Amino acid sequence: MTKIAIIGGSGLEDPAILQNPTEVAVDTPYGKPSSAFKCGKIGGTEVAILSRHGRDHSIPPTQVNNRANIWAIRELGCTHIIVTTACGSLREEIGRGDLVILDQFIDFTRHRGITFHESFENGALNHTPMADPFDGSLRNRLIEKAAELKLPFHPQGTVITIEGPRFSTRAESKMFRIWGADVINMSVAPECILANEIGIPYAAIALSTDYDCWKTDEAPVTWEEVLKVFNRNVENVLGLLVKTIASFS
Ligand code: ADE
Repeated sequence: MTKIAIIGGSGLEDPAILQNPTEVAVDTPYGKPSSAFKCGKIGGTEVAILSRHGRDHSIPPTQVNNRANIWAIRELGCTHIIVTTACGSLREEIGRGDLVILDQFIDFTRHRGITFHESFENGALNHTPMADPFDGSLRNRLIEKAAELKLPFHPQGTVITIEGPRFSTRAESKMFRIWGADVINMSVAPECILANEIGIPYAAIALSTDYDCWKTDEAPVTWEEVLKVFNRNVENVLGLLVKTIASFS
């Protein structure tokens, strides 16, 4: 049976999109996940919502316990993961408020638990393939529904995930563009890596909130701007989540 986990990023700490929500607390060998889960239904589909930074947004990106989060999602029997993330745009054509259905990541994080396989036991050499880390069929569904809803969106994009919590320097921002990144955030890696290791299809809706700091004709990004632009466009993210998840029933 299909059960969708939503990991809500900044600006989506506690979305009221479930029928008959109940709270479910889960513990894991890696510790507690970022929040309790809100479990309920969208259409006829079972859903479990986790808040990546905690419901009160008290967990900075480096401290998010991604292993506990993904482990708990499996514990709950979820079959798919759809996440949301605010991101900065590294391309002129990705405007503020645009959605990007990510298809690649560059992991520029440095201080995170990045694997479930810290030892290779019983001869299992766990080198997980990661060529296409975002699930193709889940992405196609998001793209189809985004088109039906006539949302401003880009059907693919490479995200670079930085460690944070600071934003990038101009030199870094320009380098990330040269590297081929289209958007930038502080989550997704290693969350997406861990979902792949554990075998749960994972897709991400990235909402572009700013132009980071590579542009010379704009003021550099601030956190206030990120939240303001996210909140202005949050209904698009919620609409896409609801329509996509209802399509499973
Ligand atoms: N999240 C939203 N905008 C961002 C940016 N410019 N850099 C890193 N993470 C972000």
